[in-house]
Amino acid sequence: MKPAKRTLVSKWTKTKRLLQNRGLRKFIPETRLFSRTNLLYLLKKYRMIYVKPVKGSGGKGVIRAEVRRIRGKTLLRYQQGTTIRTFTSFGAFYASLYRTKFPRPYLVQQGIPLLTLQGRPFDIRVMVQRTATRRWRTTGIIGRLAHPKRAVTNYHSQGRPLPLRILFASRLSPARRRRLTASLARLGLRIAHDLGRKYPGFRELGVDVGMDARLHPWVLEVNTAPDARIFNELKNKRIFRRVLLYAKANGRYKSRKLPRV
Ligand SMILES: Nc1ncnc2c1ncn2[C@@H]1O[C@H](COP(=O)(O)OP(=O)(O)O)[C@@H](O)[C@H]1O
Ligand SMILES: [Mg+2]
Repeated sequence: MKPAKRTLVSKWTKTKRLLQNRGLRKFIPETRLFSRTNLLYLLKKYRMIYVKPVKGSGGKGVIRAEVRRIRGKTLLRYQQGTTIRTFTSFGAFYASLYRTKFPRPYLVQQGIPLLTLQGRPFDIRVMVQRTATRRWRTTGIIGRLAHPKRAVTNYHSQGRPLPLRILFASRLSPARRRRLTASLARLGLRIAHDLGRKYPGFRELGVDVGMDARLHPWVLEVNTAPDARIFNELKNKRIFRRVLLYAKANGRYKSRKLPRV
């Protein structure tokens, strides 16, 4: 028998699975495969969308696109990396996006207006790992603040890892922030239980969660080989040590160099 796969790259396969779960559906942004029709449909419906590679990581190739009305005129624009392009027709907008993504398969996804700090969007990485007894445990939660010139929060795209304490300082009391953190930990576990049932080989999940102004959590993607090292950016090393311990027990970082803690 083939061993169960430990990782799964396709965001489309993982998203489809989560959308089938009635209890989890409300946390998953509407997502479709890239096509002219789907792009137009989601753009009209949400005004802001993300267009991203089916197989990607680190924020590479991720595009934020939106419709704007400026002085009676409709403008379409998208940002990839630090480049912004603006168009006056959907045809030109689509042609440019198509050229940019070609030949890779892409998704289009409802854009979540992420909470911001000093004008920069942030989201949250929830780390869920299997224990020695194959239970799931949320081992670490960390925020990521986008670089001022970018539309993605990834550490590998110059995003800045920060504790939720700092990101929510002006919005929530410590008690409310702790309740929010606990609910994010539970959401991570629910995602892990669902995906773990379908894919028993999964051992570690890094759930990317965006929050809107109502503090509703949205699962932007689920990583099956999440990087523990982002937690080394927290001053409190307890969390990094724990995440690393579980990661190693799960067979990660056998050969790769890691900083000592
Ligand atoms: N639907 C979305 N709404 C708002 N922001 C998003 C959305 N999808 C992605 N992003 C932003 O882009 C980043 C990278 O997207 P993600 O789907 O996690 O791809 P990657 O595998 O490259 O990390 C996210 O962490 C988030 O900052
Ligand atoms: Mg991600």
